[in-house]
Amino acid sequence: MAEHTLTDGVLILNPLSAIDAPEWVAGEDEEQRRWFEASRPAQLSDVLEFIVSCQESWRTMGDHRHWGIRRVDSPFLLGGVDLRAIGNDQVNLSYIVFPQFRRNGVARRASELALKYASTSMGAKTAIIKVLLGNVSSHNLALGLGARYLREEPSDAGGTFQVFSLKLPVA
Ligand SMILES: CC(C)(COP(=O)(O)OP(=O)(O)OC[C@H]1O[C@@H](n2cnc3c(N)ncnc32)[C@H](O)[C@@H]1OP(=O)(O)O)[C@@H](O)C(=O)NCCC(=O)NCCS
Repeated sequence: MAEHTLTDGVLILNPLSAIDAPEWVAGEDEEQRRWFEASRPAQLSDVLEFIVSCQESWRTMGDHRHWGIRRVDSPFLLGGVDLRAIGNDQVNLSYIVFPQFRRNGVARRASELALKYASTSMGAKTAIIKVLLGNVSSHNLALGLGARYLREEPSDAGGTFQVFSLKLPVA
């Protein structure tokens, strides 16, 4: 298995490479832009820049660990899952699943794999999930993962985050 690969036998998570960029751009939709407060659709150059920064963080084993998500038996990129170490033994978890692959348990499985990694490989004791008010899918997913509502806080673009906290390791 390639370095940094995670799998549960159904999904396989791998760091993105530049060849994944067009598929990533094609997977973006209005939901994703809204819930990540993007001011405009991502361009190929934005995604390539993002992938380079992810690769650099993997190279240095930095604070940001991002994986592309696929099924073990299919070449299609389904989305991504992301951890950022934020201090105090905490990581921030976020996820994206492209529209045609939603509601199949992909985000849930990918999050569980990433959370296991956060606990075993990053020493994290708590995962934080920040969900913009109104993002029902992500809100329900956070609760389904076992997270508890903590507080509200302002987002960067003037919205309101609901902040959830999840004790690691998850059962
Ligand atoms: C949020 C998102 C990642 C969920 O991905 P997904 O693969 O469809 O989620 P799953 O199939 O693993 O669903 C797990 C649980 O999440 C909740 N959920 C997911 N989609 C939902 C929806 N449309 N409505 C209500 N609950 C939903 C459910 O509780 C679901 O469990 P269930 O299927 O047993 O009811 C996906 O909708 C997405 O990419 N949205 C746009 C980007 C985004 O909002 N990212 C999060 C930013 S905080």
